[in-house]
Amino acid sequence: MSNRILIIGATGNNGLATLNALFSKQDSNVIVRAAVRSQQKADELAQRYPTIETVILDLDKPETLPAALVNVSKVFIIPGNVENRAQHAKSVIDAAKNSGSVEHVVLYSVVGAEWEAILFAKQFREAEKYLEASGLAWTHLRTIWFQDNFFGWAEGIKNGQFYFGVRDGLFAPLNVGDIGEIAANILTREGHENKAYNITGPELLSGQQLADEFSIVTGKPVQYVSPPEEATLASLIGAGWPEWQAKGIVELFEVFASNQAAVVTEDGANLLGRPLTTFKQFVESNKAAFV
Ligand SMILES: NC(=O)c1ccc[n+]([C@@H]2O[C@H](COP(=O)([O-])OP(=O)(O)OC[C@H]3O[C@@H](n4cnc5c(N)ncnc54)[C@H](OP(=O)(O)O)[C@@H]3O)[C@@H](O)[C@H]2O)c1
Repeated sequence: MSNRILIIGATGNNGLATLNALFSKQDSNVIVRAAVRSQQKADELAQRYPTIETVILDLDKPETLPAALVNVSKVFIIPGNVENRAQHAKSVIDAAKNSGSVEHVVLYSVVGAEWEAILFAKQFREAEKYLEASGLAWTHLRTIWFQDNFFGWAEGIKNGQFYFGVRDGLFAPLNVGDIGEIAANILTREGHENKAYNITGPELLSGQQLADEFSIVTGKPVQYVSPPEEATLASLIGAGWPEWQAKGIVELFEVFASNQAAVVTEDGANLLGRPLTTFKQFVESNKAAFV
């Protein structure tokens, strides 16, 4: 059996972080195949990571799945930011079952999926349940709000304002580079079958503490403002977010605001074998983006 891993969502934030980590391992026993939606993206990835294979796959066209799965033993599904992501994942799981070669599927998901309390959790849990019932070995890699999301807040931070509607709630932002390394470890090491990992960042922080960290690192005052839900919704929709996703973010912020996600787990550091990246380290490493 080949030791070929198919990465779906390879061109996204987590996909690239996973490819970086797999590429830097230089494990000659593992063949990495990256699924992309266009030849141009295939060429870009092949140039960046000369040892990987690429394949064209569009989850809106499930007929493109069987060819992508030929001789693949493990699949990492990173569903995109699309409303039908559960259906996308289900199509991959069906095709993986039919492939005759896939033994193990690692599914990207969200912390709290099992509660199915908000839209994002329901979408990912639907995919998780389908995978658990598939008969394939499964691993759920559940993550929480990324530190890297705050690049989207850089303009406001540069202007001394950090608008983030989580009131005084605490949550533990997670570094995407860390997630890529964790995913690479799960995909290349034994013993992760039929497990759900809940990966948070290393420390609980409030919106005020995040703003303070931006102030300290940039040397400029950054004021924390927690707008009401309606204002967050209007600003996300005004910035071009689809309505379903903007509503999902508002729900998620309410989870953070009410401290329902105020938890730090050990899974991430255990899977990494080192401490996770702190928010301070993240801002310091990316200071230029915020000044
Ligand atoms: N932001 C957060 O804090 C957070 C936390 C937990 C979970 N999540 C979720 O985690 C997932 C991964 O996040 P991310 O930031 O890595 O996402 P991302 O950067 O938006 O990447 C999404 C990937 O999905 C691919 N994709 C989208 N539609 C596709 C289709 N029809 N067929 C094939 N591939 C398709 C994209 O390919 P193209 O390059 O061709 O578009 C891209 O490679 C998302 O579902 C996100 O919502 C986010």
